[in-house]
Amino acid sequence: MYEIKPDNEEFAKVLKQEWTHGILKYKMNERRHQLKIYSALNGAVNDPKIRLFTLLCSRQIGKSSTTLLVATEQCLLKSGFIVLLLTATTKNMKDICELVYDKLIEDAPQTCKPTFNKSDGKYTFPNGSKIFMAGLDNNSAKDLRGKNADLIIVDEAGFVDKLQASVMSILMPQVRDRRGTILLTSTPSDTPAHDFKEIALECEKKGNYLKMTIYEDTYKNADDIEEIIEEHGGVDSTDFRREYLCEWATDAKSIIIPEFKETMIQEWERNGNYNYYHKYTAMDLGKKDFTAMLYGYYDWHAAKFILQEETQVNGDWTSTDIANAIKGVEDRIWVDIKGNKLPVYRRICDIGGMSLLPDLQTFHNINFIETKKEELYVMVNELREFVKAGRLVVSPKCKNTIGCLKYGLWDKKAKGFGRTKAYGHCDHLAALIYLIRNLSSQVMPEGIDKSLNIIDPTKMAWPHTWEDGYKTDAQKFAESFSTEVRPEIVPEHSW
Ligand SMILES: Nc1ncnc2c1ncn2[C@@H]1O[C@H](COP(=O)(O)OP(=O)(O)OP(=O)(O)O)[C@@H](O)[C@H]1O
Ligand SMILES: [Mg+2]
Repeated sequence: MYEIKPDNEEFAKVLKQEWTHGILKYKMNERRHQLKIYSALNGAVNDPKIRLFTLLCSRQIGKSSTTLLVATEQCLLKSGFIVLLLTATTKNMKDICELVYDKLIEDAPQTCKPTFNKSDGKYTFPNGSKIFMAGLDNNSAKDLRGKNADLIIVDEAGFVDKLQASVMSILMPQVRDRRGTILLTSTPSDTPAHDFKEIALECEKKGNYLKMTIYEDTYKNADDIEEIIEEHGGVDSTDFRREYLCEWATDAKSIIIPEFKETMIQEWERNGNYNYYHKYTAMDLGKKDFTAMLYGYYDWHAAKFILQEETQVNGDWTSTDIANAIKGVEDRIWVDIKGNKLPVYRRICDIGGMSLLPDLQTFHNINFIETKKEELYVMVNELREFVKAGRLVVSPKCKNTIGCLKYGLWDKKAKGFGRTKAYGHCDHLAALIYLIRNLSSQVMPEGIDKSLNIIDPTKMAWPHTWEDGYKTDAQKFAESFSTEVRPEIVPEHSW
């Protein structure tokens, strides 16, 4: 048992023996499920051919404790053994020291007990073995160079910034030299865009992987599990499924635009009517999040909206920053062959509030209209229909918009967009939603060649009519989130 205190001499003797022999299994007596984690990790650490192992487990199951327990056994057994424990932040590192590791070594006899040096986050064992602990925030990944270790643990690897690019690429050669092991322990990242997913899937493919869900946690009874489910918004909530069932949050239910396909990302070839097609700019304003701006045109003949470019400003912007970003793109991409500016047909944004729109108009000659809004899921549904019908083409340059389309997730109550480090509050997706709902696909642009084959959007692959399409999707949406179906809300315009 973990909590064992040497309260009599006989017992203290047994404990001392266990520590001296580096056998700390007794600590898992009350949480038998941890033995499975312990065996898997020990197997990886003692197999000279395994360089990388991923432990994907439910919250609070004992990932950090069991990993440290295995590391401590190695330190006790092998003099001069070096362990590096890395966490996403320094705060996480301190929590692990104080709330997990200090508790774990509490009952160690003095002859085996490591001493902690606060200034360098190092635990030193009497036999010279060491456990270094470090947080990976503030660009500290570069400090990892030259730190050779026999065992490297990346705790909550799914939440470490630039895991592959800045951490694994440095760590791998270091353990390779010493035939050491890297253990990645985590719950799945909150965005499937995180590179932990690929690394974990690769480990799974090789068999260097263990996944354990809350249902295998013997320390929790049915009532505990029920309570956790309720707290997280139900057994089907994205949070519960990710944090306790260890599912990658890529299921269609939590993805905002599941209809988006890789094939929609392409450089669309301009045709001779480019000058006449309606050009659109859309903006989603944000102070805390990005202010995202999108630029594109409606190809009347193909019945597709072509998203050409995106820009974003964040932080403390002024109307001049916004104006410069917009002009910088519009004046570059919307010009004819002689360099003459082509007119912008419509600029759309979400709120007219603040003084931004009048400022843009008065000082920069940039006019926006304010979009009408509906409930978010209705507006999302419009974009989903549009995408599903194959009417959206996105240039590969629009990295943020593509990220939002591919990986944007609903928040835990499915009421708003989830936030991620990479894609903010899906601000580019919001801008796209405003743009598409304000497209004028019914008004034929002046000057276009009417003799060319014009695709009728009403004949496109997906039943486009709001009657059919909307109801079907709303139904699906309602089913996935147990929300009310509201077929009576029909968007004001049809395609
Ligand atoms: N075998 C054990 N005996 C006693 N306490 C334990 C044991 N294993 C874990 N604990 C305690 O349970 C709590 C959760 O353990 P730990 O932090 O290792 O889990 P985790 O899976 O890393 O959690 P998180 O998902 O929050 O990172 C900690 O307070 C830890 O000290
Ligand atoms: Mg942990």
